[in-house]
Amino acid sequence: MSYKDINSKIGFDEMTPEEQEYIQRRRKQRKRKKITSIILRADAALLAALGVVLIGSVVTGSLNAKAENPVKGVSGSVSNVEVGNSSGLFGLVSSSKNKKKTSQSVVKTEQTDLTDIAALNTAPDRDLFIRNSIQYKEIEKKGYPAVPDTVPDSYTCLITRKFTLPSDYVPKDLCDPGVKFSFGYMTDKRLLRKTAGEAMKEMFDDAASSAGIELVAVSGYRSFDRQMEIYLGNVNSKGVEGADSVSAKPGGSEHQSGLTMDLSAKSASLDLVQAFGDTTEGKWLAENCHKYGFIIRYPKGKEKITGYEYEPWHIRYVGEALATYIYDNGITLDEYYGISAEDE
Ligand code: DAL
Ligand code: ZN
Repeated sequence: MSYKDINSKIGFDEMTPEEQEYIQRRRKQRKRKKITSIILRADAALLAALGVVLIGSVVTGSLNAKAENPVKGVSGSVSNVEVGNSSGLFGLVSSSKNKKKTSQSVVKTEQTDLTDIAALNTAPDRDLFIRNSIQYKEIEKKGYPAVPDTVPDSYTCLITRKFTLPSDYVPKDLCDPGVKFSFGYMTDKRLLRKTAGEAMKEMFDDAASSAGIELVAVSGYRSFDRQMEIYLGNVNSKGVEGADSVSAKPGGSEHQSGLTMDLSAKSASLDLVQAFGDTTEGKWLAENCHKYGFIIRYPKGKEKITGYEYEPWHIRYVGEALATYIYDNGITLDEYYGISAEDE
């Protein structure tokens, strides 16, 4: 006879002594089970609450980290969201209903490809598209290359006082990028290599449409001979030391690569001045040019490393993946290659 059958008898007194003993034993067991399940539920609730607090603090921490160091913040925050969903904390205690909820909050990090220019240019979050790309992940995985890229045609070529371009190097794919210039005449200064020019056009258009900002191009490609004239002009007006702090010697200018453009804005009187960095346009450029493959090549505070004064106007194309990596890590191209002008 089962517990149910015996327990359905009208009174305890009507039961046989064996049945009474059996019923008492089962009632004690059921009571213990009930207490255990209450304790377990309370534990689960506590753990779940603890999980929420922990995840909350991790996410908040990662957001704070992002503010201080964008690379840690972004990759950190994406992976933290994944950790939150990996049922590490919730999985132990949560119901399947809870699991379903957390899986719905997953940030999908599908791998992207920067060679798909159309997808890049229509991505709702350009930064995320770049950071999720095969190319960005490859740079992250490799870390800092042991040997600098010195191939003149390469978008990631290092050009400094020491690492110079051959005097006869002229890029083969120079084009007019079709953006607004500070002058109207035809000259080599309008030119950029095709890919860099297309990225620059995209950037100018986005700056106008998303931020209402008008960037103005001032000076792009320069031949070795033209850089010679500029450098000698600077030596004349500033002396050798003064010239060297603001102007590259021929062969050492990124302008010869066709990957560099000097920019300004009306708010800086279309001049190449450090005050451009404090204008709305200069700030937008510093915060956004990496999304289009450009870096501020000579940033403030890095003068000893680059060997040049701060130039908020001089942007250099290195491709979206490396530009974003350099931006995220707050480094210069020199540092990426483990080089410093101080050691030269
Ligand atoms: N002003 C930069 C360093 C150049 O001359 O290329
Ligand atoms: Zn420049």
